[in-house]
Amino acid sequence: MATFHIDDTRSLGTIAPEIYGHFSEHLGRCIYEGIFVKPDSGIPNVNGMRTDVVEALREIRVPVLRWPGGCFADEYHWKDGIGPKEQRKRMVNTHWGGVVEDNSFGTHEYFELCRQLGCKTYINGNVGSGTVQEMSEWVEYMTFDGVSPMAQLRAENGHKEPWRVDYFGVGNENWGCGGNMTPEYYANLYRRYQTYVRHYDHAAPIKKICGGPNVDDDNWTEKVLATCFASPHPEDGFHGFMDGLSLHYYVHPGGWRHKGSATVFTEEEWYTTLKKALYMEDLIRLHGGILDRYDPEKKIGLIVDEWGAWYDVEPGTNPGFLYQQNTMRDALVAAVTLNIFNNHCDRVKMACIAQMVNVLQSVLLTEGPAMVKTPTWHVFRMYREHQGAQALPVTAKDLPVVGGGLPAVQASASSGKSGAVTVTAANLSVTAPQPVHLELAAGRPAQVCGTLLTGEAHAHNTFDAPDAVAERPLEAAVRDGGVDFVLPPCSVASVQLV
Ligand code: AHR
Repeated sequence: MATFHIDDTRSLGTIAPEIYGHFSEHLGRCIYEGIFVKPDSGIPNVNGMRTDVVEALREIRVPVLRWPGGCFADEYHWKDGIGPKEQRKRMVNTHWGGVVEDNSFGTHEYFELCRQLGCKTYINGNVGSGTVQEMSEWVEYMTFDGVSPMAQLRAENGHKEPWRVDYFGVGNENWGCGGNMTPEYYANLYRRYQTYVRHYDHAAPIKKICGGPNVDDDNWTEKVLATCFASPHPEDGFHGFMDGLSLHYYVHPGGWRHKGSATVFTEEEWYTTLKKALYMEDLIRLHGGILDRYDPEKKIGLIVDEWGAWYDVEPGTNPGFLYQQNTMRDALVAAVTLNIFNNHCDRVKMACIAQMVNVLQSVLLTEGPAMVKTPTWHVFRMYREHQGAQALPVTAKDLPVVGGGLPAVQASASSGKSGAVTVTAANLSVTAPQPVHLELAAGRPAQVCGTLLTGEAHAHNTFDAPDAVAERPLEAAVRDGGVDFVLPPCSVASVQLV
């Protein structure tokens, strides 16, 4: 039996709710159709935001939403997306499918979406093809409360009050689609551009996110930090020109060129996928270790603002739309990744799954007026009690290995305001059930309840069978001073101990 010792007398730190964040790009059917529809489309909506989608997202408590890209961010010119819709510029979305972007979803629509979701805002600015002035004016447009050209323009467009920008990303993947820059070149541009991301609201300063590495590119991290932490006035208690450094990592089971199908895969591919998902922990250690040298007090967050599984697109769909199904395998990818983030919450301060609707590892899929919740949505729902809770150290004993060296069970734990302990655990085995025993350092729990998500490895929800994969109660018992339950193969559990 796998035993997990949970030290509920000690905290590893607060699990930032933003770790459960999302990403929505102007890509395929994520924004258009997936979230935003024409008010007279016949699909129930409030100011264009789909009611079914907003309700499902509120249920998983989306804490923050990154927009407008992605690669799209570095060719987005925000002034194209404001003002009367019929006059907005139409452009080609060169990165994603070469389709016409009519800019009907722009700054005002993004803030309306975040208002309906009740989430924090994360805007990604354009360094690759935009100017410093353009970025600076966008910040003024969104946040300045007073007399200024941009504040006046915002008022003319129907929003007198400024909005709150919680996070601002200065460029995206500038080592690649955001301009193919060297780290030294980007770092100097970052220093310059971020200067003009002004804190107009001093009570709520914008957190600035510097573009970080691709996967394991530690040279990028080293060079960018070396430049961005070099100060002419070190005596001023300077700690870098940033509040966060981004990291992007996608799981491609078959590699970048032949990623593999989302729904048709072998047992071997199941384990390869999970091994690659667990690699996130190595990446956090790698880049976190470099950050530790510059920022030992861990004030700078590692912001994993793109993560998830990326497969071949569904047959017959536009290759540039990145539409893929979502199975129990994806539930496991989400479960182990979120457990890793919880366990490293001292450094990981935000993470955004890519992407929210209809693109890559989505939590929701839509087809016309229909919507399905994917297995990944269920994992976010089951993990929601971790948001803002205290992460607890978890130690495993007698843990079997599966798939040639992976832990059979992987877990994280937290303690909420009420004192209840939430443990989330995933059984990585595709064939074997796993009995689990949880023990608490502070003593015997009085009560236990839990939720289970399980199914055959390829199980997924479709528009014809939307609840093929759904949560159900977990059978767990208080025994021997701890809690016992059995995890079926391919399963994720959320257990509350009181
Ligand atoms: O999420 C899809 C794309 O992946 C993003 O636009 C880009 O940042 C990354 O390469």
